[in-house]
Amino acid sequence: MPTLDALLSEDQIQAKIDELAARLRADYSGESILLVAILKGSFVFVADLCRRLGEDIEVDFVQVSSYGDEHRSSGVVKFKKDADTSFEGRNVLLVEDIVDTGRTLAHLRELFGTRRPKSLRVVALLSKPEARAVPVEVEYVGFDIPNEYVVGYGLDSAERYRNLRYVAVLRESPTP
Ligand code: IMP
Ligand code: MG
Repeated sequence: MPTLDALLSEDQIQAKIDELAARLRADYSGESILLVAILKGSFVFVADLCRRLGEDIEVDFVQVSSYGDEHRSSGVVKFKKDADTSFEGRNVLLVEDIVDTGRTLAHLRELFGTRRPKSLRVVALLSKPEARAVPVEVEYVGFDIPNEYVVGYGLDSAERYRNLRYVAVLRESPTP
């Protein structure tokens, strides 16, 4: 049986989202924002974040698949679902659950930059700086965390644990 070691509590996460939302409101100073959440992991984060932002907010979703093993992305990114909304002239804010190697985001930043947004920034709840394989800019980061596999608050292991209110390190116990 895998074990869960709590890393970030529900209160810590909610307080951090208050902080991120305050920074975003100040930085965008009332301009409209198109939140583009990267499914599936970001669905919980974007739900909490969007309700703390101003009035002029739209939410859209993209889903990409990367071919790698279960816990690592390969960097080959393919759309399962693209955005429904045009990015042209919009303040596009990509919403990511966690930045690991950075490959997914680097790819999306490059591609979405060609769609002529007014601005393009990224907010990620979690980042593992030690795991970065490609450099990628992330304007807003909630927490830098150690290079371990985490679940909860939208993040899964084989589709489980997304519904946890907190974030935990998942440890596979050694087979006897
Ligand atoms: P990257 O392209 O390596 O940065 O991978 C980013 C994606 O891999 C994230 O959006 C997650 O879906 C997934 N991922 C990376 N690390 C973790 C983790 O610790 N737990 C759950 N999913 C993760
Ligand atoms: Mg993800």
